[in-house]
Amino acid sequence: MKRRRLAVLVSGTGRNLAAILDAMRRGEIRGQVSLVLSNRPGVRALDIAREHAIPSAVIDHRDYADRPQFDAALAGAIDASGAEAVVLAGFMRVLTGEFVQRYTGRMLNIHPSLLPLYRGLRTHQRALDDGQATHGASVHFVTPELDGGPVIKQGRIHIGPEDTADSLAARIFAEVECRLYPEVVGWLTSGRLRLRHGRPELDGEPLQAPLLEDYDAAR
Ligand code: GRF
Repeated sequence: MKRRRLAVLVSGTGRNLAAILDAMRRGEIRGQVSLVLSNRPGVRALDIAREHAIPSAVIDHRDYADRPQFDAALAGAIDASGAEAVVLAGFMRVLTGEFVQRYTGRMLNIHPSLLPLYRGLRTHQRALDDGQATHGASVHFVTPELDGGPVIKQGRIHIGPEDTADSLAARIFAEVECRLYPEVVGWLTSGRLRLRHGRPELDGEPLQAPLLEDYDAAR
């Protein structure tokens, strides 16, 4: 069977990239990464690509006069790699509407909060400041609205009295993101997940609400 190709866009440590590549190696995701693209040189995510013998490239946003030119360079590299879908994995640049539209229904992002709560940055500290009992991560289709696209699945954990922003960031990656993102990426590459009329559809069924799973049920 044909293996769907993905481009993974990164800016940093690449833990989500590693989780996706490991899941592919285990045969849990039917697909392959045709390109890892970073907007920053020298980041750990590029080492991970190299370790997995995946082609990688740096397209440094500082080399471009404006966002449209940067995004055009990204799109050129993605399309040249033969990628059919785009996975944002800690990619820290805001994308233009034109770029997003080009990949509508074919581009996913993971965000470290239970969207629509806490779009943007500093999500863990903001959840603590608000005295939230729970927190988590969301995987969504990307739309031009920042962190505002239709959510597919969320993973939730409980915030403990000992938690800090740093401990929450670590727990959310270790307990939620590294399992949640490969699962949803696998749905996309296997054709089980689609975006239809602006709403995620899994196995032909429109999702009435995001799927929600407790990832620390044993605690
Ligand atoms: C993750 O917390 C992800 O949710 C957010 O950025 C972080 C990326 O980490 N969008 P990594 O680069 O995958 O290690």
